[in-house]
Amino acid sequence: MSVLLHISASTRGDASHSRRIGRQLVDELQRRHGGPLRVIARDLAAQPPAYPDRSFVEAALMPQAQRGATQAEALALSEELIAELEGADALVIDTPMHNFTVPAVLKAWIDQVVRIGRTFVSSREGKEGLLQDRPVFLVVACGGAVPEPPTPSGQIDFLTPYLRYVLGTIGLRNVSALRLTSLARGAGEIAQADAHAAEWIAAAAAGWAGQDRHRKI
Ligand SMILES: Cc1cc2nc3c(=O)[nH]c(=O)nc-3n(C[C@H](O)[C@H](O)[C@H](O)COP(=O)(O)O)c2cc1C
Repeated sequence: MSVLLHISASTRGDASHSRRIGRQLVDELQRRHGGPLRVIARDLAAQPPAYPDRSFVEAALMPQAQRGATQAEALALSEELIAELEGADALVIDTPMHNFTVPAVLKAWIDQVVRIGRTFVSSREGKEGLLQDRPVFLVVACGGAVPEPPTPSGQIDFLTPYLRYVLGTIGLRNVSALRLTSLARGAGEIAQADAHAAEWIAAAAAGWAGQDRHRKI
């Protein structure tokens, strides 16, 4: 059975646009998927991952052969979250933009799963991801506009390129992103974003169904 890991980061529950559109995407992926699909929900707002504290950092930087029970305990959540990633055939990450980048709970998740010697290796030449690639679908919700091309006073999206970069670092390069903007500007803007989302979701789910079939042949 295929597994879809669905990660959500908004604290706004039913009022959240990223959660609402993320759910629509998961429903459509489920509908287009050829066989049974198990969805694992990881709600980062309901259960925020711990920030890396001293015991985590020391354990993460210690060679695996030297780690004991204390270090295993410090890395237990990290191992659980990485195992969830490794077991997923595809990921959906829906998230708000907070101050031009990822919300703190999503950064905490990243700090748990992007681990030297475990999900990437580092050398003088750079970093190399250790996870097998798989499709990742991002849904990003912004209250304001993101002008393209950038304007002197317009905001810059550091979230989407950052997520692409950091996921690429651990080997996840097959990333498709949907950015919903101006959601705080009124019903008209929300309706426009919803229409754009519906089109994007249809194309993304159709693309995934194609990739999926290809992989099984
Ligand atoms: C702490 C905080 C920081 C925010 N920073 C930004 C920002 O930098 N740019 C932006 O467009 N919207 C910003 N917003 C607005 C949210 O991105 C917007 O409300 C979005 O819809 C939240 O996603 P959600 O609807 O899924 O909760 C911010 C909201 C909060 C609470």
